[in-house]
Amino acid sequence: MNRLLSFHLSYIMTISIFTASISKALPPSTDYPLSCEASQEESRFGGWSISEQLFKYIRKILPEGCTILELGSGQGTAELAQHYHMISVEHDKKFLNLYPSSYIHAPIVNGWYDTRILEQQLKDLSYDLILVDGPTGAIGRGKFLDNLHLFNFAVPIIFDDTNRIPEYELCIKTAEKLGRPFEIITTDPQKTFGIIFMQTSQ
Ligand SMILES: C[S@@+](CC[C@H](N)C(=O)[O-])C[C@H]1O[C@@H](n2cnc3c(N)ncnc32)[C@H](O)[C@@H]1O
Repeated sequence: MNRLLSFHLSYIMTISIFTASISKALPPSTDYPLSCEASQEESRFGGWSISEQLFKYIRKILPEGCTILELGSGQGTAELAQHYHMISVEHDKKFLNLYPSSYIHAPIVNGWYDTRILEQQLKDLSYDLILVDGPTGAIGRGKFLDNLHLFNFAVPIIFDDTNRIPEYELCIKTAEKLGRPFEIITTDPQKTFGIIFMQTSQ
């Protein structure tokens, strides 16, 4: 238990030191005050969904009526769909067409979404934000980085679950590859998300 706690603390410290060193040019996170307290509305979001805080953050930075391309659909899709046009890439048939979204069924092939399907289906779409929240952590999201060419990435990109090391690394490596600033936002001690901003770091 102690080892787990000390790993967690050193991980959070590493995140803080790292982000503090590169985030000088970024808008301070206080521009987006986020509460750590669970709200009454928390129950709208299931354990597999984006957090209430991430939902509020998106509401703050993205005007109503914009379009979100999300990788991975769930209950959060229903909440976002009340304010945005949703396009959901989903690998699992069980989670298709459950919520108001334009679904793209892309089964897992070679460890990630079938890129041939994404290539065909995404090429003519326009969207204002990408939310990387799938596939599941067990399948892995790392191949997003190898397939950036499939996306219009001239939009903000949000990575949920950056409290997990692979998702944290994916966010950082994507920001490095795109040469854009990012920030990791802690919503509670157990949960963070990352955002890559639109502007370049120059
Ligand atoms: C983290 S979830 C995506 C959540 C979604 N973006 C949201 O905010 O609700 C990643 C994947 O888990 C699966 N999933 C979604 N909801 C689930 C649930 N309630 N239980 C188990 N798996 C789920 C789907 O295949 C989905 O693509």
